[in-house]
Amino acid sequence: MTESPRTALPSLSIPPDDRLEIVPAWDADTPYQAWRPQILVPTTFRPAEPTRTFVVVNQKGGAGKTTTAVELAAAWAADGLRVRVIDADHQEAALSVWLLPQYPADAPRYSLRSVFFDECSLAEATYPTLFEGVDIVPSGLDLSRVEYERPIGAENAIAAALTQEAEEAGGRPPYDVTLIDAAPSLGLVTVAALTAGDDALVPVKVGGLDMKAMASLDRTIRSVQRKTNPKLKVGAVFLTAWDKSDFARQLATKVSEDYPDAVVVPIRRSVRAAEAPIAEQPVRLYAPKSTAAGDYDQAARVFLRKPEATA
Ligand SMILES: Nc1ncnc2c1ncn2[C@@H]1O[C@H](COP(=O)(O)OP(=O)(O)O)[C@@H](O)[C@H]1O
Ligand SMILES: [Mg+2]
Repeated sequence: MTESPRTALPSLSIPPDDRLEIVPAWDADTPYQAWRPQILVPTTFRPAEPTRTFVVVNQKGGAGKTTTAVELAAAWAADGLRVRVIDADHQEAALSVWLLPQYPADAPRYSLRSVFFDECSLAEATYPTLFEGVDIVPSGLDLSRVEYERPIGAENAIAAALTQEAEEAGGRPPYDVTLIDAAPSLGLVTVAALTAGDDALVPVKVGGLDMKAMASLDRTIRSVQRKTNPKLKVGAVFLTAWDKSDFARQLATKVSEDYPDAVVVPIRRSVRAAEAPIAEQPVRLYAPKSTAAGDYDQAARVFLRKPEATA
């Protein structure tokens, strides 16, 4: 197998003035001119331990799902964790275009679809990216076959593949964290992703909040909790393309009331974030000084405790 050299993802040093303050309750009172951006970490929240599966989900397109998956993956990989991202979006497959899988020559190319149709294991459908510590299960348009052919056990396919992999690995599963980038729909593949997840991470674009979309996401999460995955919870809401307005803070206050146990993270609007996919690099590498890279870095640290073994 010919492997391209992999680029290490940088550690960030965020200037104190750019840091988000970590608070236990959202400050809705300070006038916005004087207010500093903050991450809300409820007192009930406990950071997760690896091994962990996160599902980045919101059926609205353009909410920041793929960006959130890429940047959290990059932050955890920079911290020495072994990270896998799974592209579960056949409509855009933006993740597989952003983080190009490095396929070996002269071997069949598998994808998430192959896992649903029992053509290979999850490990066989996982490929390196150009970035150290981040591997990917890619997808293409043919993932939509899952929706209309409905292979047996599809709802449980990703969960079963992860369990099988963990069993085969014995003591130490091959990845500390798996991030699934869901499609802008609540179809079968999204249900399979939620069935495999420990935490749902919900990006909401400030200005693009859609109450109907949030309500149907909530219904789907509740029915997955009841039927296929009782441990699933909403771990965090990311308010993406955040700006310093009263509206943004009202939205944050509402979200913190609707999800009292979730971490609420503003990810500041940054042109660099929008440019990075075109450069085929995580924002963290493309623009390490951007507020978006820094905000995701801080969120990643709040969320996942580094295991002793790799500390
Ligand atoms: N913090 C941000 N600031 C500015 N633009 C952003 C930010 N986060 C995401 N974007 C841009 O918003 C668009 C939608 O984001 P994306 O992650 O692709 O959403 P989704 O996967 O939910 O469709 C993309 O063009 C992306 O580059
Ligand atoms: Mg996307």
